[in-house]
Amino acid sequence: MNSKPKPAFASDEIVLSIDTLFKAFGDNKVLNGFSLHLKKGENLVLMGRSGSGKSVLIKCLVGLIKPDSGTIEISGNNIADLEQKEMDELRTTIGFLFQGSALYDSMTVRENLEFPLRRHTKKLSQNEIEELVFDTLESVGLKHTVDLMPAELSGGMQRRIALARALILKPKIIIYDEPTTGLDPITSKEIIELMNNIQEQYQTSSLIITHDVDCARVVSNRIILLLDGVNYAEGTFEELSSSKDEKIKAFFK
Ligand SMILES: Nc1ncnc2c1ncn2[C@@H]1O[C@H](COP(=O)(O)OP(=O)(O)OP(=O)(O)O)[C@@H](O)[C@H]1O
Ligand SMILES: [Mg+2]
Repeated sequence: MNSKPKPAFASDEIVLSIDTLFKAFGDNKVLNGFSLHLKKGENLVLMGRSGSGKSVLIKCLVGLIKPDSGTIEISGNNIADLEQKEMDELRTTIGFLFQGSALYDSMTVRENLEFPLRRHTKKLSQNEIEELVFDTLESVGLKHTVDLMPAELSGGMQRRIALARALILKPKIIIYDEPTTGLDPITSKEIIELMNNIQEQYQTSSLIITHDVDCARVVSNRIILLLDGVNYAEGTFEELSSSKDEKIKAFFK
């Protein structure tokens, strides 16, 4: 695996824009004017300590939590202006890889992948569905598992299938929540490599939440540090990891 840091991604098109977001729960001020702009085709890593507000931020993004103030624009749509139905449609353009794999245990790999297709796309023929399932499984290298149950797969394979399920609707944006947590180093590397392949193959824009410094180094075009509710620092892996600021250094130990 090429483990060198990547350069910043050159694009002017912003696909996801979070501006001066504030969110408090009572006295607990979690987000204090946080901003983030994800460029088209970019892998943007978000790092922040446990409890810093990463999940709150994601929940604001998908409309599960309403921020106190600030704006969120996804593909040019201010989500505060959207009706529920429009928000649901917009959400289908975002793929999520949740922590853990969250596959449906009682469904085969094929059924897990067909699920979002049947739910969100208008009538596809059985052949079209079959083709999409196999193409997507191929891009995560697991075509041969199509008729297996999740319990018959290793943890790393389950995560790759979960990634295939997130990819099958050809999302414009992928949000990865701790993609390598709980995996052994070799399997982690496979997932990291796959994330880079997906960026190349599908030209997706990704927001990647991780504590894993190796993952951040290999997948990121740019990193944002969430600290004290704000985007405390932004830059490439090389820029941030060579910082003299003690608070920034702490993330790269
Ligand atoms: N629904 C809620 N009601 C009240 N407080 C909340 C709620 N959701 C989150 N919080 C608080 O917001 C803060 C940030 O939580 P969050 O889950 O976003 O952390 P995180 O950065 O995702 O941490 P981790 O890395 O452990 O997942 C915490 O202090 C948490 O207690
Ligand atoms: Mg969290």
